[in-house]
Amino acid sequence: MLKIYVIHENDAWVEPLRSAFGELELPYEEWFLDEGVYDVSSAPPEGVFYNRMSASSHTRGHRYAPEVTAGVLAWLESHGRRVINNGRALQLELSKIDQYATLSRYGIRTPRTIAAVGREHIVEAAKRFKGSFITKHNRAGKGLGVRLFHEIDALQAYVRSDAFEDSVDGITLVQEYIRAPEPFITRVEFVGGEFLYAVRVDTSLGFELCPADVCQVGDAFCPVGETAPVSPSARFRIVPDFDHAIISRYRHFIAENGIGIAGIEFIRDAAGEIYTYDVNTNTNYNPEAEAEAGIYGMRAIASYLGETLRRVAGAARREMLVGST
Ligand SMILES: Nc1ncnc2c1ncn2[C@@H]1O[C@H](COP(=O)(O)OP(=O)(O)O)[C@@H](O)[C@H]1O
Ligand SMILES: [Mg+2]
Repeated sequence: MLKIYVIHENDAWVEPLRSAFGELELPYEEWFLDEGVYDVSSAPPEGVFYNRMSASSHTRGHRYAPEVTAGVLAWLESHGRRVINNGRALQLELSKIDQYATLSRYGIRTPRTIAAVGREHIVEAAKRFKGSFITKHNRAGKGLGVRLFHEIDALQAYVRSDAFEDSVDGITLVQEYIRAPEPFITRVEFVGGEFLYAVRVDTSLGFELCPADVCQVGDAFCPVGETAPVSPSARFRIVPDFDHAIISRYRHFIAENGIGIAGIEFIRDAAGEIYTYDVNTNTNYNPEAEAEAGIYGMRAIASYLGETLRRVAGAARREMLVGST
């Protein structure tokens, strides 16, 4: 029987998807990719492959999971398998530099960003900014390395201290700080290449707090701001009818980069300008906000994967018929 294969490295994030598969009675199997044995000279099984590998896998002790996933995806694709969020999508998941370079090709504005390797070079990069800036890891997720600075001295003290955390790929980004007049970011969710909903995430959390822990949603959202936290339940609000020209640009961008499922984050500045700063091909959803709006991302994913599986099965049957005549 043809199945849906879910490639991932974090059980907790797959739980809501398992329930959704159960509701729709879809056949699936999980491929937990980290340490293991991979026979890449054999033929992979037939089916649909959904890649949920995360950029922050090293924070869960799965240091080489993205690397082996890149190999496995190349193997699947070389056999013509249907992969949702393919090898190209994984490259984007793993590099914000790549995200920004690619987004700009679709007319999508990103914050001014300078990459640096080596502690003193991070300071050198920051000197090219006039106002406040933030640092972040090139391979990130869950807010890794996100810090706000208003002056060089503070950055210098930080990079020279034991508190400094380097990106797992050695690349730190220094980025223009986009000051939002109202403290929220917007995340736009796509399933099956189509807009599902936008969610407004309150960012009035302190930079000193670990955003992932505070949000309790892992990589899903990483809202970081400058002031005190508000109550967790009020932080996520779904805007189902969000409408803006940026949506069609995002759709174009994901369609041409092997991405079927993603959450893309932007901040709007005081002038109303939209800056896109994060593409998450491994997306999670906020259950309270979804219950309030009555829209469910994981159900949409399961149903899309089910539909894709039916199409793949149909094509395989047709091929067999042609082969037998
Ligand atoms: N250029 C920026 N200006 C202002 N806030 C930012 C900027 N970049 C990131 N942030 C804040 O930090 C959070 C985490 O940054 P992000 O780039 O999404 O990293 P991650 O991939 O770790 O989620 C964002 O959700 C946003 O709240
Ligand atoms: Mg983010």
